[in-house]
Amino acid sequence: MTDGRIGVGIIGCGDVALRTYAPGLAAVADRADVVALFDADPARAAALAERFASYGMPHPRIAPSLDELLADAAIAGVFDLTPAPLHHTITMAAMRAGKSVFSEKPLASTLAEAQEAIAYARAHDLTLLCAPAVMATNRFRWLKHQLSAGWIGRPTLAVGQMANMGPAAWLGYTGDPAVFYSPAVGPVLDTGVYILHAITGLFGPARRVEAFGGIAIPRRTVLIPDRYGEIIEVGAPDHVLIHLDFGENRFGQVLSSFATPRSRAPALEIHAEFGTVSIAQQDWYDLEQPIELLQRDESAASGEAVTAIMPTGPSRAVNLIQAGPEHFIAVLERAEAPLLTAEHAAHVMEIISAVGQSIAEGRAVDISRDVEESRSREVSRKS
Ligand SMILES: NC(=O)c1ccc[n+]([C@@H]2O[C@H](COP(=O)([O-])OP(=O)(O)OC[C@H]3O[C@@H](n4cnc5c(N)ncnc54)[C@H](O)[C@@H]3O)[C@@H](O)[C@H]2O)c1
Repeated sequence: MTDGRIGVGIIGCGDVALRTYAPGLAAVADRADVVALFDADPARAAALAERFASYGMPHPRIAPSLDELLADAAIAGVFDLTPAPLHHTITMAAMRAGKSVFSEKPLASTLAEAQEAIAYARAHDLTLLCAPAVMATNRFRWLKHQLSAGWIGRPTLAVGQMANMGPAAWLGYTGDPAVFYSPAVGPVLDTGVYILHAITGLFGPARRVEAFGGIAIPRRTVLIPDRYGEIIEVGAPDHVLIHLDFGENRFGQVLSSFATPRSRAPALEIHAEFGTVSIAQQDWYDLEQPIELLQRDESAASGEAVTAIMPTGPSRAVNLIQAGPEHFIAVLERAEAPLLTAEHAAHVMEIISAVGQSIAEGRAVDISRDVEESRSREVSRKS
């Protein structure tokens, strides 16, 4: 704590730090003190420090190294906003230094690493949370409550998609888009995780997974003005179609793609016995837009009503990603129980691992049983 506020540090000061975490932390500046920043590129740390100062916040210290930042006693928790392949190493280093961690997704590169981080956090009584922040938004807190209250009957089907051309075609992107097409990332780990977190957050753990996937467009021209013309060789499937079985005749269907030029399909629809909730693609990150609810009433002849709903709740975040830092601060203050748990993130990683296995083996994969088997095969191969 510094001045009664939670002291935090940021590791990785790139696109998401500047674009989303900085305004997200500025919105809770009365509760969080950004003490220090570290980036492998000091210019990026300096730019982020300037951004905080531009919000009227104190200029955070720029740490000369990761270890130096982690040694700062004023820091209770860190945000790991580095590229995905670094998350596990940095998360473990931070926890070994006694810091709680909010990791950008994914939590780790393998399930074994995720389990190691979870076990370490539990053994040392540290908070370990992981993006995406879907379940901390007012929208999804409300949805979870309403669905479990049975208001629109039993939810039976979730259909979602995150489908675009990926960061090579995201003109405003300031990071390196190539990593997102590499085998270490791909569309499912990058954006499919939002939908997987949403569906499993509402339906509970998946039991069985079946998937198809492949590389549909193997070479990409980067369209971002500063990098225009760079070529990316695609190393991860860029179309991935996923079916999920939750048991008791409840199912999910997800399209995760970096090879879809445009789509007007919703980001997510939840179908229950007496209603459907729909969230438009363009409103997925924008929490100031309503979601749509269609309610069926079989006691009336034309018993259908469509309403736009603006869920309210404890979060002040106006952007989905910003609900993450806000929730981390609330958990460190002990004002909220953890919602964005590492255990949930690990289950989504289990699903993603099963997706890869299903694509490779051409069959449905039972979560837990098959994942356990392949994990023990992995362990015996290593030993
Ligand atoms: N950009 C977005 O809008 C967005 C949205 C949601 C999630 N994310 C996630 O956030 C993470 C970062 O993505 P980004 O888009 O900001 O990438 P980025 O490349 O713009 O930023 C990453 C930063 O980490 C720094 N870095 C690299 N190695 C480092 C090290 N060893 N120690 C410290 N810093 C190091 C880089 O210099 C860079 O400034 C990824 O996991 C991504 O999936 C990004």
